[in-house]
Amino acid sequence: MSCGDIRDLSLADQGKRRTEWAFQSMPVLQSIRKQFIKTQPLAGIRIAACLPVTPETANLMITLRDGGAAASLCAPDARSTEDEVAATLVRDYHIPVFAIRDAPSEIAAAHVQSALDSQPHITMDTGMELLNTVHTRRPELLDNIAGGVEETATGAVRLRAMARQGTLRYPVMAINDSSTKRLYDNRLGTGQSVIDAILRSVNILLAGCHFVVAGFGWCGRGIAWRARGMGAAVIVTEVDPIRAIEAAMDGFRVMSMAEAAAIGEVFVTATGGRSVITRDHVERMKNGAVLCNAGNPGMEIDLDALSKLVSAQRPVRDHAEEYALRDGRRVYVLGGGRPINFLAAEGHPATVMDVNFANQALAVEHLVKHTETLESRVYPVPAELDRRVARIKLESMGVKIDRLTLEQEQYLANSPDGT
Ligand SMILES: NC(=O)c1ccc[n+]([C@@H]2O[C@H](COP(=O)([O-])OP(=O)(O)OC[C@H]3O[C@@H](n4cnc5c(N)ncnc54)[C@H](O)[C@@H]3O)[C@@H](O)[C@H]2O)c1
Repeated sequence: MSCGDIRDLSLADQGKRRTEWAFQSMPVLQSIRKQFIKTQPLAGIRIAACLPVTPETANLMITLRDGGAAASLCAPDARSTEDEVAATLVRDYHIPVFAIRDAPSEIAAAHVQSALDSQPHITMDTGMELLNTVHTRRPELLDNIAGGVEETATGAVRLRAMARQGTLRYPVMAINDSSTKRLYDNRLGTGQSVIDAILRSVNILLAGCHFVVAGFGWCGRGIAWRARGMGAAVIVTEVDPIRAIEAAMDGFRVMSMAEAAAIGEVFVTATGGRSVITRDHVERMKNGAVLCNAGNPGMEIDLDALSKLVSAQRPVRDHAEEYALRDGRRVYVLGGGRPINFLAAEGHPATVMDVNFANQALAVEHLVKHTETLESRVYPVPAELDRRVARIKLESMGVKIDRLTLEQEQYLANSPDGT
């Protein structure tokens, strides 16, 4: 098998240090790796992964390799590769990597094809790149493929649509549906790193600032609570009455985006949808409003419509673009509408990715074990795997919890009267 296509093998020392450092904060993956080394559940399995090439991903790939898999890695977009990590994976861990930071699009596309040339049994995606490529351009690989895992919420929604239309050709496990992933990644990780990214991009004082969060889902809740923790006056916009009432009962102001547009100083979209902030909204905004997105890449803020209001546009800081409107106001868009925490901050801490990647490693093991029975549809991570991740995490924190006694179990299983 090819050893890959990376920028520079001489960066490997730095990549190894960073990978080992991240591993210290990944106790759940450490535990799974130990077990994989003993039981070799992935012996003979070929895996192609399309994930950001980071120290945390490196540890996932090493865990899969240690479980017996032949794994290769490419990147979902040109910005998400850390060249030094790619170098250590190739030099020190003998895992083929096809990823170069800022590679032109035709090279990035060729890298995806190269990862698939390994003729994988399992695909691992964050945004469906490998799965889409197999379904549209490499259908000859379908016969070999036992299943896939998909990390994102948006990916899971699209995969379910494919399954409904009968076009999904192999089983996929939706990592986003696991409770531990949602808690750690969407709520805690995104909550913290979005605030971090806003501060790094525009260095504003959040205390007293009117901070609008669109979407009170897993990510939106995390962002709203963290912004409140910094002293911001947080406003939530929603389309789901249940989520909206939860936000209101948590003490947030809830209103329509049309109303919030005139009040907010910072706007963060986290809905997974599109055109959440439109031209009409921008027309109402205060001078100096800051707009950013944590959800669907490039879709939630309607930048095409915004550009029609603009007389001039210029970068003012790293990741901050000033839009001078014809009426003299200025608004600032962070990261070109792409998820700001991955651009201006450092994405999620290793502790968060530990939980995500533990779910991914166990999901791959589950797919391999149950190849015969799984159908071409989208499966959530089984509850027992989710609980196993939570249990290992708690152990690593030194936290002990109660267990149901036999009497309690029997009571809950058989109680004829209920409460
Ligand atoms: N940036 C990151 O680090 C990161 C991490 C995880 C997920 N995500 C992405 O963030 C997005 C949200 O994920 P989630 O887990 O919070 O999803 P979720 O389904 O839990 O929450 C989305 C919420 O947005 C609401 N919503 C939908 N359209 C809306 C609109 N027009 N206006 C206001 N509210 C609207 C929904 O009712 C829902 O409550 C997805 O695109 C997901 O892929 C980003």
